Amino acid sequence: MTRPLMDTHGRLHRDLRVSLTDKCNLRCTYCMPAEGLAWLPKDELLTTPELLTLVEAAVTAGITEVRLTGGEPLVRPDVVEIVTAIAAMEGPDGSPEVSMTTNGLGLAKTASALAEAGLARVNVSLDTLRPERFHEITRRDRFHEVIEGMAAAHDAGLRPVKINSVLQRGINDDEVVDLTRWAVEHGYELRFIEQMPLDAQHSWQRTEMISGEEILTALRGAFELTEVPGRGAAPAERFYVDGGPASVGVIASVTMPFCGSCDRLRLTADGQLRNCLFANGETDLRAPLRAGATEAQIHELVHECLALKRPGHGINEPGFLQPPRPMSAIGG
Ligand code: GTP
Ligand code: 5AD
Ligand code: SF4
Repeated sequence: MTRPLMDTHGRLHRDLRVSLTDKCNLRCTYCMPAEGLAWLPKDELLTTPELLTLVEAAVTAGITEVRLTGGEPLVRPDVVEIVTAIAAMEGPDGSPEVSMTTNGLGLAKTASALAEAGLARVNVSLDTLRPERFHEITRRDRFHEVIEGMAAAHDAGLRPVKINSVLQRGINDDEVVDLTRWAVEHGYELRFIEQMPLDAQHSWQRTEMISGEEILTALRGAFELTEVPGRGAAPAERFYVDGGPASVGVIASVTMPFCGSCDRLRLTADGQLRNCLFANGETDLRAPLRAGATEAQIHELVHECLALKRPGHGINEPGFLQPPRPMSAIGG
């Protein structure tokens, strides 16, 4: 019998978010500086066989959902092979569901290959419907590629296509209604995200953040919202728009934390296991793996990491410290 991936707060963990790279081909102002970051050194990055060994150990330990993240996961050249290998893994509950969170660049080209490889669905980031604004926010003039990527994902049967929008005051907070209307028309499931203190520049300010409540007020001004039941461990609180079936969601990590139902672990591209987005410590799996650790020994380390998981992120508590690793090197 596999020991359940239960932490000391009674939360069963089923979801592993795997960062395939810390690199990204956009430079969103709320994420990283224009010049980019000091990327992880090559010899510290997991090779694909190493990454697959660790993911397989997680799957045999009880992980049933694997989310591929970045940086931007599609910049990893062998991403399709990685999806194929993970989708074929077998855990105590069968094969994991494999999904991806992407900025959408390159998705137009790879969506059908990803679907064939066994990818179930994608979440695509899009903060604005205005190409010039997209350029200002991401510092790259590539709006249309993202839109094409979403359409290709939808056509390839990757469903639902979810959209993540981070709102910034005075930048794109006037697009709540337009984005929602557009997503509903295109059959995409939009979610607005409260900005979290995870930017590389450490410039997050609570007073600047657009809160879930503000977002809901703007939405209620234009649509009739009714709560979608059965949220489970999902970060998004969802609402039917004008009676449904389309829905819009709010991910209010800061003002309405959902840590009580958290079921997530995170593996960074350099082989560190994190028990929380905001964890200040990590469990090194790369060094033991390179030293020849067995799967049973990796399982032991996963349980050690889990045992250290705190009840919540602590953002709203005095003395909160932003973790040293930025969002782009954790994968969100
Ligand atoms: P779905 O299962 O497709 O709904 O995915 P998701 O919303 O959990 O993941 P996605 O990668 O699309 O992330 C959307 C936003 O939620 C990002 O800002 C993530 O950083 C944030 N997020 C995802 N998981 C967690 C989490 O466990 N804790 C917190 N605080 N935020 C999270
Ligand atoms: N807070 C909340 N969400 C963020 N994202 C990037 N930075 C932040 C932040 N500081 C979003 C991206 C992407 C997802 C992985 O996280 O827009 O959709
Ligand atoms: Fe889980 Fe940490 Fe996210 Fe809370 S902040 S939901 S504990 S990963």
